[in-house]
Amino acid sequence: MIDFKEQIAEGLARETGLEKNELLLKIETPPDKKMGDYAFPTFTLAKTMRKNPAIIAQELKEKLEGMEGIEQIVVAGPYLNFFIDTKTLAENVLKAVVEEGDRFGASNLGEGKTVIVEYSSPNIAKPFHIGHIRTTIIGDSIKRIYKHLGYKVEAINHLGDYGTQFGMMIEAYKRWGDDEVIEKNAIPELVKLYVRINKEAEEDQELLDNSREWFRKLESGDEEAVSLWQWFRDLSLKEFERVYNMLDVEFDSFRGESYYSELMMKAVDEIKEKGLLVEDQGAQIINLDKYNLPPSIIIKSDGSTIYLTRDIATAIFRKEHYDFYKNIYVVGSQQNLHFQQLKAILKEMGYDWADDCIHVPFGMVSLPEGTLSTRKGKVVYLEDVLNRAVDKVEDILKEREETSGMKMDNRDELAHQVGIGAVKFQELFNQRIKDYVFDWDRTLSFDGETGPYVQYTHARMNSLLEKGGFDVSRPVDASLLTSKEEKELLQKLYGFNQVIVDSHEKYEPYFVTRYITDCAKIFNKYYTNTPILVDDDALKQARLLLVYGVKNMIRIGLDLLGIEAPDKM
Ligand code: ARG
Repeated sequence: MIDFKEQIAEGLARETGLEKNELLLKIETPPDKKMGDYAFPTFTLAKTMRKNPAIIAQELKEKLEGMEGIEQIVVAGPYLNFFIDTKTLAENVLKAVVEEGDRFGASNLGEGKTVIVEYSSPNIAKPFHIGHIRTTIIGDSIKRIYKHLGYKVEAINHLGDYGTQFGMMIEAYKRWGDDEVIEKNAIPELVKLYVRINKEAEEDQELLDNSREWFRKLESGDEEAVSLWQWFRDLSLKEFERVYNMLDVEFDSFRGESYYSELMMKAVDEIKEKGLLVEDQGAQIINLDKYNLPPSIIIKSDGSTIYLTRDIATAIFRKEHYDFYKNIYVVGSQQNLHFQQLKAILKEMGYDWADDCIHVPFGMVSLPEGTLSTRKGKVVYLEDVLNRAVDKVEDILKEREETSGMKMDNRDELAHQVGIGAVKFQELFNQRIKDYVFDWDRTLSFDGETGPYVQYTHARMNSLLEKGGFDVSRPVDASLLTSKEEKELLQKLYGFNQVIVDSHEKYEPYFVTRYITDCAKIFNKYYTNTPILVDDDALKQARLLLVYGVKNMIRIGLDLLGIEAPDKM
């Protein structure tokens, strides 16, 4: 596609003799399109050219007039404002729409680079609760966005499947566990056992001693201990998989913390050899004063390692195994300090790739009081929230069937697509660092800035295309698209790739969410004001191709968020 900005920079470079890339950085996008599509501040040249900026602007305008793809250049004080030519824009954009199809907005920016996106990472034998929704959905979207830009992505679920608590789990199971009960309702039952042993251990030292012994056995590969642990892990994973299937979230690896337990000692030895460990009250710590961070414990006084030690081993393994370009951790902001320490330690160890380890934090999600009855106690299971969303949409659709008297043949599937999509959309609508309260009414509404609204707009475009007998292979006259909304939509199509690039740079899927929501709004306005299926066939074809392009972009945008785009709603 034509690159208008590049074009302008080239022209400016030719006339001023300055570096094109330098000029490129100075070209701005005015907040108001009335001021032009691009602006160049000439005062940045005043010093080198020893001239008044307004005069420079005037002279450059005269020299640049008639430039390809630019309709008009306007001098506004020390600014040169460029208005792009709508016909050039339309021709370029529509050509890309036809040629790129599913790859619209894509690029090969990441070619040859492997990126790790680590997300979700629940702890086994613990509930997969509402708090996990954020890492799971944000992480999955980041993965999709990187893929669209040509990166090779490894999606890793860093399961919490290691730690002394598994000694307690085994001891509790051996005392009170009942296989049949556990098989039926694994996680709540395992949680019950864990809560019970913690409580009873307060009074009973033997429980603690036995648990410690079980953990020791587990670490040394004792058959019974390992097979019980494996069983807890399998049961948990089976429950997690059910939620991942609902969410259409997939991983390339489930290597969890336990995987690195073997590599941990190697990492600890390396830290020792590099002279970084000091003893502190029996524990082995690393001093991180230099980074303005509190010291990190590497080995506790009882000789056991901790969460952080495992993350050090993990990062080193990942570099060796994947030679990542970036190693991205999608983990809540409560763990900011943990990841700062991890990076600092890797730096101390002399790894120049430490800065390629990136913590992508996010704020908290909470549910309004009393909106959900839970299976057990205070924990809100994510699966229950998702089912509830689907049920609510199902109710809305049933009501619709009753009022319209029309039966849908895919009501269940649609309820799933819209319900799950709505939850994801709300999750990805704001800057990730912001806390938010789960709001059922807003999430599931078909109006306003919601998933159902965008999905509905997409379906609306689809039926319009069907009704108009749209055929993508027919050539169109792009110069017929001249209205304000047509220009806006063309600009949106033109800018789609850049938004995806920005969103990947900042690890912010909400850029995409907002963008496609805007497109849906502009389209709906357009559709209200402009007849599409007009008698003039050439005009009709041009408008339909535009609609097709926008529909395609919205579908791809939804896909980058992990949201489905039903054809009919
Ligand atoms: N399992 C941890 C938790 O639930 C999250 C793991 C985050 N990833 C990491 N590499 N430390 O809090």
